[in-house]
Amino acid sequence: MDPNNPPWWTSAVVYQVYPRSFQDSDGDGVGDLGGILQRLDHLSDLGVDVLWLSPVYPSPQADNGYDISDYQGIDPLFGTLDQLDELIAALHSRGMRLVMDLVVNHTSDEHPWFLESRASKTSGKRDWYWWRPPRGGFGSGHPGAEPTNWQSIFSGPAWELDAASGEYYLHLFAAKQPDLNWENPEVRQAVYAMMRWWLDRGVDGFRMDVINMISKDVAADGHLHDGPPIPGTGLGDGSASYICGPRIHEFLQEMHRDVFAGRDAALLTVGEMPGVTVEQAQLFTDPARGEVDMVFQFEHVGLDQGTSKWDVRPLRLVDLKASFGRWQAGLAEVGWNSLYWDNHDQPRAVSRFGDDSPRYRRDSATCLATLLHLHRGTPYVYQGEEIGMANYPFASVDDFRDVESINHFAAAMVAGQDPATVLAAMRRMSRDNARTPVQWDATEHAGFTSGTPWLPVNPDHDEWNAAAQRHDGSSVLAHYRRLIALRHENPVVALGAFAMLLPHHDHVYAFTRALGGQTLLVVCNVSSTPYALSDLLPQAVGAPLVLGNLPDPGQTLRPWEARVLHAS
Ligand code: NOJ
Repeated sequence: MDPNNPPWWTSAVVYQVYPRSFQDSDGDGVGDLGGILQRLDHLSDLGVDVLWLSPVYPSPQADNGYDISDYQGIDPLFGTLDQLDELIAALHSRGMRLVMDLVVNHTSDEHPWFLESRASKTSGKRDWYWWRPPRGGFGSGHPGAEPTNWQSIFSGPAWELDAASGEYYLHLFAAKQPDLNWENPEVRQAVYAMMRWWLDRGVDGFRMDVINMISKDVAADGHLHDGPPIPGTGLGDGSASYICGPRIHEFLQEMHRDVFAGRDAALLTVGEMPGVTVEQAQLFTDPARGEVDMVFQFEHVGLDQGTSKWDVRPLRLVDLKASFGRWQAGLAEVGWNSLYWDNHDQPRAVSRFGDDSPRYRRDSATCLATLLHLHRGTPYVYQGEEIGMANYPFASVDDFRDVESINHFAAAMVAGQDPATVLAAMRRMSRDNARTPVQWDATEHAGFTSGTPWLPVNPDHDEWNAAAQRHDGSSVLAHYRRLIALRHENPVVALGAFAMLLPHHDHVYAFTRALGGQTLLVVCNVSSTPYALSDLLPQAVGAPLVLGNLPDPGQTLRPWEARVLHAS
């Protein structure tokens, strides 16, 4: 990274819009492009540089749009292509950019490519997906006949039988999301052509859904390998065969050459990569290799989990420091980090890592934000995070809408687990926590819709909403605004070298950022226990404050207090 000529996204902040929950403009209870167009002042006011838009393409909505049936259109649920063009123009005129979601590990089973592929074993598109006969010695449809033992990420086997042909197709996610076969060059060329079409339309980059799963480890004879058994499921973990598979770098370099080359300086590309290691991320994000600008890694959002995401454990702050510290160091000389707490797949950060009780909700939300935004990397803000939105009080299993949660509950019941325990974990970890409508104001449906929202609005919206915070300088919203402005104004925040302090302290997260003779010292109390600063970091006592989340800073670092200081 040349500090004299850094890419634009090193000082940018991205805001993610999950369209079905952002703003409804036509009263059907589902957010849409018209709604986004109405709310652009909120984004300008916050100061973000980029809008990442989760999928708005035609889709049967089996996974809320991550199951696409037409890559080059807009689902009528969300609006029209004209409105998308309007959104591009409106963002550009406000100095913001638009990053689209690119979901090309799989399509919908209703995509014409899959319909054609499924139509017959001799179809010209048969090889565009992963079709396999039953396992040797098994009749199709018999338990254990699946071609591999892989468990789907959304529970159950990762193979679905097509009764007409007697063959199975692979779906790492829901059965309605068949995996594309990237081994086939026609698939790759079709995807690249579609991407160019969007760039030519004016979009400014892509967030690439589970892009490190597109290369599968397949033997020359087409055989796919079983994975180690997952206890209690009868299935196996196939991830070694599809996480960062053998051709992943080749595919991304080819994509870069065929799609981005010559125009990449203006774009932002971020690959969502579950299971990626920091060593692999160096390769993915080294500009000299021409792959992606940055990746979403998952290490820190796995620290509060045991055997699966539903096995919830308390987060140990020292583990978070070790993890973030390694990623900061690993991508210091080459590559770049993306920084996030929240997105549409994660429960709300203030409930998960902060303290959403009335006493500490505002302070913990602003503390977590300060901690994250002062790291080196590009921060991502997920809609509602900037107003401190919290998890939803789900009463029963019927309250959930997400395919992952619903499938998990069903599989857990079949496995004989205790419903109350399963429900308790879902309350904490379900993706629906992130998907309740944005709380714009204190009216009945929080200003989200005039109809009935597809997922209920959190009852706490009477107090926690954007309108209440907009003109309140002490609000969570005002604090995000200040953090974003600080990144824009101060090159140390964007580019400064990172050094972790107090790696073994259980509650206080501290680090420095240094560039060209200027050093910032960041101190965050990630707990409700006060600490005397002189015991912890004497150099922080009396240091000039650049930005803090509590008024009147003194000698004690108060519960959930965060300070950014000038270090001498
Ligand atoms: C990751 C996306 O973020 C998630 O929402 C989706 O369910 C899966 N990929 C499958 O597309």
